Amino acid sequence: MKKIIYTCLISTSALINLYAEQTVRIITEGKLLDTHQEKELKRELSKILEKYSPDKTPVHIEITPSYKNSTAVLDEIYQGISGFNVDASDTQKVTQAGGNPTYGEVTPGAVNKLKDEFKFSSQDTLYDLGCGVGKLLSQAFIETPIKTCIGVELSAGRVKNAHGAKKRLDHIVKHKSHVLEPEVHQNLTAKNRKLEFRHEDITKINWREAFDTVSRGGRVFIWICSTCFSQELQNNLAQIFGQLAADSKRDFPEHVGNIIILTLKDFPRHDNGDKKLQNELLDKHFLLDKKHNLDMTWSSNVTVHQYSLKK
Ligand SMILES: C[S@@+](CC[C@H](N)C(=O)[O-])C[C@H]1O[C@@H](n2cnc3c(N)ncnc32)[C@H](O)[C@@H]1O
Repeated sequence: MKKIIYTCLISTSALINLYAEQTVRIITEGKLLDTHQEKELKRELSKILEKYSPDKTPVHIEITPSYKNSTAVLDEIYQGISGFNVDASDTQKVTQAGGNPTYGEVTPGAVNKLKDEFKFSSQDTLYDLGCGVGKLLSQAFIETPIKTCIGVELSAGRVKNAHGAKKRLDHIVKHKSHVLEPEVHQNLTAKNRKLEFRHEDITKINWREAFDTVSRGGRVFIWICSTCFSQELQNNLAQIFGQLAADSKRDFPEHVGNIIILTLKDFPRHDNGDKKLQNELLDKHFLLDKKHNLDMTWSSNVTVHQYSLKK
């Protein structure tokens, strides 16, 4: 079947698929054209198409709107953006902080599984510690009503790229929201939501948003794609989470159980067989709830440990 794809700019951008059966399907981005625009477009098109029709048979023209789904939005905002290449100074900085510059990402399919499991709500906050270019958070922000997404990343190049993607997303929301699928539109135009990327060491985070979330009764999810983190960095994180749990239980006892940690690398345990975590505060407040098997860019079925605050 002969198929010509043609981009047309008459009142609105349009894609024309011309098939051998002489039917032209115009898929407008978002809005339906009004009667006048539709008539104009059909007239202009007939003129163009006649040139290509050897026997000058009239062509049937159909016009339908098509909306951008979340995958199309993600593809658009991350076009040309990758976290896999960083310059030498970035690499050195990350290594010095106990991280590992080796890059990899959680796949969109794995993010879908997290969405199904946790049903992120408009009360919740999601942190990504070592967020790279921020794809996990962007996907969650576009596809769920989650209130706050905070990414923290030490590599300046990756944060710059995350900011670039965020800027493109803001542009779409401001200037092209009519082309978005209804659910995506609803998520992205809702008030009081935040998607933020910080150039910071993950051991120096200010947990203000986490406390705000717990105090409101929302849940805090902390994603750590820590496969390559040093044991020292993992120990520092254990210390930080133990303290975070102790403080939130002390200040908001009515909302205990609302902090959930998802870490690829497990926290270290004592060797004496009782399986207690090495960090006392972490052991006192967190429970290994569950293990998930999720696909990453470097391997499928990677174990992700889910810790939740003990009641
Ligand atoms: C494997 S990538 C994870 C990307 C993303 N979180 C995901 O799941 O798709 C880990 C990231 O952690 C960053 N990183 C390592 N140590 C860090 C630290 N101490 N503070 C902030 N970021 C760090 C690295 O630069 C890298 O971009």
